[in-house]
Amino acid sequence: MQQTPLSRPRKALHLRVNGHDREVYVRDADTLLDVLREAVGLTGTKRGCDLGTCGCCAVQIDGRPVLSCLTLAAEAQDAEITTVEGLAGPERFTPLQQAWAEAGASQCGFCTAGFLMTADALLREHPAPSREQIKAAVSGNLCRCTGFIKIVDAIARSAAAQHALRSPCATAAPAPTQCA
Ligand code: FES
Ligand code: FES
Repeated sequence: MQQTPLSRPRKALHLRVNGHDREVYVRDADTLLDVLREAVGLTGTKRGCDLGTCGCCAVQIDGRPVLSCLTLAAEAQDAEITTVEGLAGPERFTPLQQAWAEAGASQCGFCTAGFLMTADALLREHPAPSREQIKAAVSGNLCRCTGFIKIVDAIARSAAAQHALRSPCATAAPAPTQCA
């Protein structure tokens, strides 16, 4: 009997997602987006265009943002995959997520996971990005609701907040003696 794409046999694949080892059974053509949402059960990563044009499906592989709708699951074998569910620390929000909320950078929220994954990677590489660097970094992410300005504001706000945490002498609080 002739095989169709859906009838092709599945193979075991080892994925490491948000610090956890996962064994999943996938077909050769299954995308990372399909596998994360359907086999791993992490639905925070959104399917927008499924064509590589909207950025909604962005996740990180070894710290770099990738479009999971254009990445085969098999390409991510043994790499460190981070999804939006893996961003949160022991607190409720990461500083970036907190800044997102404070800046009003999310309305319907469908694009938010993709923006967060892209912005998180940017801030690790460039902790103090210019607005132009921020705009360039998120140029592959589309938002139909916010007009983008609040998104750029949120990333800049997060960078400033994290800078203040790293450099307490730069805050408006009274300078400790060792900072004078
Ligand atoms: S769903 Fe992947 S880029 Fe749109
Ligand atoms: S908040 Fe609705 S698409 Fe961005």
